[in-house]
Amino acid sequence: MNPTPEKLALRGDLLDFTGLPGWAELDSPAVRYRPDHWLLIENGRIAGCQPEAPDASWTRQDHAGKLILPGFIDTHVHCPQLDVIASYGTELLDWLNTYTFPAECRYADPAVARHGAARCLDALLAHGTTSAVVFPTVHKVSAEALFEEAAQRGMRLITGKVLMDRHAPEALRDDVAGAERDCIDLIQRFHGRERLAYAVTVRFAPTSTPGQLAMAGALCRADASLYMQTHVAENRSEVEWVSQLFPDARSYLDVYAREGLLHPKAVLAHGIWLDAADRKVLADSGAQVAFCPSSNLFLGSGLFDWVAAREAGFAVSTASDVGGGTSLSMQRNLLDGYKVQAMAGQRLTAWAALHAATLGAAQGLGLQQEIGHFGLGTLADFCVWDWACGPVARARDERVKGLHERVFAWMSVSDERNLVASDVAGRPRYHRSDHIAP
Ligand code: GUN
Ligand code: ZN
Repeated sequence: MNPTPEKLALRGDLLDFTGLPGWAELDSPAVRYRPDHWLLIENGRIAGCQPEAPDASWTRQDHAGKLILPGFIDTHVHCPQLDVIASYGTELLDWLNTYTFPAECRYADPAVARHGAARCLDALLAHGTTSAVVFPTVHKVSAEALFEEAAQRGMRLITGKVLMDRHAPEALRDDVAGAERDCIDLIQRFHGRERLAYAVTVRFAPTSTPGQLAMAGALCRADASLYMQTHVAENRSEVEWVSQLFPDARSYLDVYAREGLLHPKAVLAHGIWLDAADRKVLADSGAQVAFCPSSNLFLGSGLFDWVAAREAGFAVSTASDVGGGTSLSMQRNLLDGYKVQAMAGQRLTAWAALHAATLGAAQGLGLQQEIGHFGLGTLADFCVWDWACGPVARARDERVKGLHERVFAWMSVSDERNLVASDVAGRPRYHRSDHIAP
């Protein structure tokens, strides 16, 4: 890959968001579409945008006729689970025991953890995702590997060692004191370094003792800049189990609320089986839910109610949840999200969907000064996409009427094969021509 010029000008059809598009709004003022424009990038940051070609002091990259989007932000993905993607025949709790925990055991080996982290981040980049909130495993070395590999790629990455001190194989269990030591050490070494941030990572309520949840809450209370990531209310058997394990809690979400784990930097995956009181608690806390549609369908978990989330007023981002999810492709997940909403008689616009995968996710993480859009001064994390690949998509693209129809069709029939290039902070990190399949 070529070294990055200080002044880079990128030509293409630029699409990003300046605010939250209204639900079901096809013609939204929050959509910023600048066809055949030049995006100016200086020292890795967005420096301008103009219809005319810039002067010769700029290195030009001409992607005329291609779609340029901010890099996607995957707010919930499991690094070690790439190995168990598409595992047959189970719901959540069986799936964890049968496929997931055995795969995670292998990450005790530093070489496996390092190789897995590199493979996961490269795969994200090759699907158009430039930032992610990632679950590694319980092993400290798995979080270290992700941080180090992300730093090498200049990526925005949020992760933290998984906390699990019960209801898991012995090889995947920690204890409160050791886990706290590991968290503090990782926070000191990585949190706030370059584009890295630490997330206190509670796997889910059943795999932590009350003592461990209290320790996690104390870490969050001690430093409001820390993220928190976990799962909540994904599957009915899981919800029932949590009610047995925590009989005093009003709800599954309340297990986390009582420990101080809900705050503006918290990302909770799924949130399918919430009630109105939970939704209000979420909205008041500033936490966001990561909607993981391909996982929810694949594991038969349920249908997330996005309209209720909007009405309650908490942020929703979109995520792959690989390996429960079946693809790292954000478009594939967004199309599944459309189908989930359709099952409830709702219609997810391309705008609401793509906003959740870019600006919406960035705002939910408090990172809108850095990622998620093409505003001046933000880091130039962007992806170049073919509008259409193959005869079916091309024929459809030729017949579209209006911008929403075009972008919706793109979202629905495109995937990682449409990706031409991914840049992180203006540096090329993936280019299709370097990856022609043998
Ligand atoms: N709940 C607890 N752990 C997991 C996991 O690894 N994947 C999913 N989808 N749900 C979980
Ligand atoms: Zn998950």
